[in-house]
Amino acid sequence: MTATQQNAGQTASKDKIVVFDTTLRDGEQCPGASMTFEEKLEVAELLEAMGVDVIEAGFPIASQGDFEAVQEIARRAGPDVTIAGLARAISGDIARAGEAVRVAKRPRIHTFVSTSPIHLAHQMKKSEEQVLDIISATVAQARNLVDDVEWSAMDATRTPIEYLIRCVDAAIKAGATTINLPDTVGYAVPEEYAAMFRTVIERVPGSDKAIFSTHCHDDLGLAVANSLAGVAGGARQIECTINGLGERAGNAALEEVVMAIRTRGDYYAYRTDVETTMLTRASKLVSAVSAFPVQYNKAIVGRNAFSHESGIHQDGMLKNAETYEIMTPESVGVKATSLVMGKHSGRHAFREKLRELGYELGENALEDAFKRFKDLADRKKHVYDEDIEALVGDEVAVASETIRVLALTVIAGTGGPAKAIITLDVEGTHITKEMSGNGPVDATFNAIRAIVPHEAKMSLYQVHAVTEGTDAQAEVSVRLEEDGKSVTGRGADPDTMVASAKAYVSAVNKIAVKRQRQHAQAATA
Ligand code: KIV
Ligand code: ZN
Repeated sequence: MTATQQNAGQTASKDKIVVFDTTLRDGEQCPGASMTFEEKLEVAELLEAMGVDVIEAGFPIASQGDFEAVQEIARRAGPDVTIAGLARAISGDIARAGEAVRVAKRPRIHTFVSTSPIHLAHQMKKSEEQVLDIISATVAQARNLVDDVEWSAMDATRTPIEYLIRCVDAAIKAGATTINLPDTVGYAVPEEYAAMFRTVIERVPGSDKAIFSTHCHDDLGLAVANSLAGVAGGARQIECTINGLGERAGNAALEEVVMAIRTRGDYYAYRTDVETTMLTRASKLVSAVSAFPVQYNKAIVGRNAFSHESGIHQDGMLKNAETYEIMTPESVGVKATSLVMGKHSGRHAFREKLRELGYELGENALEDAFKRFKDLADRKKHVYDEDIEALVGDEVAVASETIRVLALTVIAGTGGPAKAIITLDVEGTHITKEMSGNGPVDATFNAIRAIVPHEAKMSLYQVHAVTEGTDAQAEVSVRLEEDGKSVTGRGADPDTMVASAKAYVSAVNKIAVKRQRQHAQAATA
């Protein structure tokens, strides 16, 4: 199969699959993956540019922060993307979701209720008849607020089919336009999941009035296979997340679903409108903002997904890439690592390089990023695309921070406790502290804590090299937890200690923003 044949599979005559991305809701909801307001906007902007059809932007009733992020994403969204807000089958949730999404050009309320016996008995403490009444009332309420209403049967795959049919019938009669049948606990197998859709679509009289949707969790590693099976059973929407981010083992990975449909266009009679060359960038962004690393051998976006080590494979690849490659790295946006510029490169070349990488910065941000690039080029012999990406990611993170790292000196080695002297800019005041610690990272973090005292506990410290070579930039993530909430800060620098300090300070800034939001909320409550 040639690359041309792959693309020939993407004809407009094929059935369109609606790609519903829930990275910002089901993905963000998983422990440790919480994103800031700005990070959510950045992810949403990329998803929209990529051609995702529906962005589930959050769960507006969950917090004021969630509400504001959903509303701002809805306000910024263009006419081709639907913005969904999640709501439980509770009147207050639905009203709040409606309020958050109504500024979108294409707003959707996504409301759900459990339908399985185990959820009804232990979580809902309701009878089947009571849940049917709830479905009718809540879907009707949502339909009074927006024209596009999705209803989900939580734990559908463990719900007796006869009862599931009655629930779907009630939801469609009340006005639901999309019916989602999730495999909430990741229990289904493909044949069974396909059969569930076939039966429900066949047996519910008004099933042609709604689009059916899959939503699969990956507890048994079957989320993508189940999603594709659901489509074979009649679903035409797939709910998924970038990198498969999500509760427990995660959700179906968007990049895998989209590339399976594209690469096996000879088999599947479907298409998506996702621009696949943006998948790698989306994966890197979501990994950076969530601080969830992508496993090296992850399909499509893993670092090794297109590398060939064995002699036989390399020999075949050199003769003809299609001997071992079913899709090209370029088709998912992987470029050969390229040497970009050196310290003599000018502003114009830098701006062009950013454009090529997909970044459009405002004048001030561009100027700041350019200064940092010059700084980096002075310290690092080769500056690669990945370095520029890390630098811009760092720039976006730092732009809104009120505490910044100004200077750091660390003394460490075999001869005793490490020592760190750090100067921070705290809302315009420069403060310097010296502290010792059990190694250079500990000493640096102790010095930061001495300037900005806090009770938050660190639950993650992670370093990765942006490129190869001993002068590579280090990209560091630090996750802090306070009052059951977690934030992740990141920083990049050729000096691992400076990158660590930046990441820690970034997390401290985020904790401060969270506290301010909570205080503001308490004051208005
Ligand atoms: O997994 C699930 O059932 C969900 C619903 C809220 C759709 O995420
Ligand atoms: Zn889910």
